[in-house]
Amino acid sequence: MPIAWDPATMASGIPTVDQQHRQLIEWLNDLLAAMSQDQGGAEVAAVLARLDTYADTHFAFEERCMVKYRCPVARINMAAHAYFMKTFGELRDEYEAGDVSPDLALRVERDLAQWFADHIKRIDAKLAPCVKRAAA
Ligand SMILES: [Fe+2]
Repeated sequence: MPIAWDPATMASGIPTVDQQHRQLIEWLNDLLAAMSQDQGGAEVAAVLARLDTYADTHFAFEERCMVKYRCPVARINMAAHAYFMKTFGELRDEYEAGDVSPDLALRVERDLAQWFADHIKRIDAKLAPCVKRAAA
């Protein structure tokens, strides 16, 4: 099941952050599709490399926004990002070590894609009222 961008529950109040979220959701869906359709290592490896770099850049940017707008979940957000990058690295290592099992694909779906969608709703969306308050 691909994950979907939903402005009603995911908007962060910062267009650049939202744009980055949409890009990451697109590539996470590409990763799920490539893994489930077993498109071969090259496509999966390419998406993994794109995600790795972009997630890192996005998280750093978003963390600066949370500090700037004094978001109360800034620290929780940083810890969550570290958790994602750790999980991402573990799953990438397993894949690169030759694991192409359906179980790995399921964990990518649950621990990366679904996790990321939930993270945006539960934590990143808390930026929106802070941005609004700063503009008032
Ligand atoms: Fe976040």
